[in-house]
Amino acid sequence: SPIGLIDGFGRRIDYLRVSVTDRCDLRCTYCLPKGFKGFEEPANWLSLAEMQRLVGLFVELGVHKVRLTGGEPLLRRGIGELAAGIAALPGLKDLSVSTNGTRLTHHATALRQAGVTRLNVSLDTLDPACFARITGRDCLSDVLSGLAAAQAAGFDPIKLNMVMQGAVNDADVERMVAFSIEHGFVLRLIEAMPMGDTGRSVMPVDASALGIRLAARFGLVPAIERGGGGPARYWRAASADASVRGGMSLGVITPMSQHFCASCNRVRLGVDGTLYLCLGQEDKVDLGRQLRDGASDAQLRSAIVAAMAMKPERHVFDSRPGQVVRFMSQTGG
Ligand code: GTP
Ligand code: 5AD
Ligand code: SF4
Repeated sequence: SPIGLIDGFGRRIDYLRVSVTDRCDLRCTYCLPKGFKGFEEPANWLSLAEMQRLVGLFVELGVHKVRLTGGEPLLRRGIGELAAGIAALPGLKDLSVSTNGTRLTHHATALRQAGVTRLNVSLDTLDPACFARITGRDCLSDVLSGLAAAQAAGFDPIKLNMVMQGAVNDADVERMVAFSIEHGFVLRLIEAMPMGDTGRSVMPVDASALGIRLAARFGLVPAIERGGGGPARYWRAASADASVRGGMSLGVITPMSQHFCASCNRVRLGVDGTLYLCLGQEDKVDLGRQLRDGASDAQLRSAIVAAMAMKPERHVFDSRPGQVVRFMSQTGG
């Protein structure tokens, strides 16, 4: 369709996030409860061919940007082939991956060769004990070597996602900025959203205010460019200092204190083919079921177009706490 996907509020939807598995090798406190067992049955998972088909239909309908997420996307067998297949779709401009980094040393080169252009890596702390407390696993060093492998493979930019958790990792933030400047990473400070009942409450953090304070401390100025398809607002180095690779940038993602839903451009596909219309709402359409019932490409395209009318205006984390029952790992953030 030449006009592309437009929702009921006039927003152009050109960004699809695909959760390729809901499993993860970590148990971050804000994402999954300890001992979580409620994963999707593998029988209900879309095969890679089915995912490729659905993503292809979205791209035909005007989606230019695709992000592979999870759970942990690098746990899905065949992820490199899926990435290569999606990267080759005519009309696709940007293929990115959000990963926890634990397996990046094994996958970085293959992902790069498959055509993945950008990589976002979760990293909430540089302290090994704190990392183990947050994620349930003592494997910070794997993530750090994964980051080095990703740089060696040529990924640029690499963004670090730091979910701010009050006293748990507040004290690490300056060290994270210094580390990002040193290595040329883009650091994003994220306000945690209450998704599912992880058994732990989400710290209220004002990431905008934190960004302003750090910008003053590190001599950063507001950046005009959006630096990706997402909701982050950025700061960058004031001068093109040669010692700062690519000009440091710091981003803030503020779903709780200042939501960005008016400029929302995205929808999400779960591992079973459920199309989630908003991260912070339950509205969904079961494309996986329709696909398995034998729907044609034309029927699936119509279902996708029709689903756009169901996209809510915004999330409501603040006014109805706990109303999103699924966990972050089901829709990949
Ligand atoms: P870029 O394309 O690099 O800008 O990616 P991104 O920031 O959109 O993706 P990433 O997977 O790195 O997500 C970073 C944070 O933004 C995570 O905490 C996501 O949950 C959050 N996020 C991404 N998209 C949305 C959204 O549409 N709504 C809300 N509320 N949060 C989002
Ligand atoms: N709130 C905000 N961000 C979250 N992420 C995971 N769970 C949450 C949450 N409850 C982030 C991680 C990951 C990104 C895709 O989503 O930092 O990098
Ligand atoms: Fe879009 Fe919903 Fe995210 Fe808001 S919360 S930015 S409407 S997906």
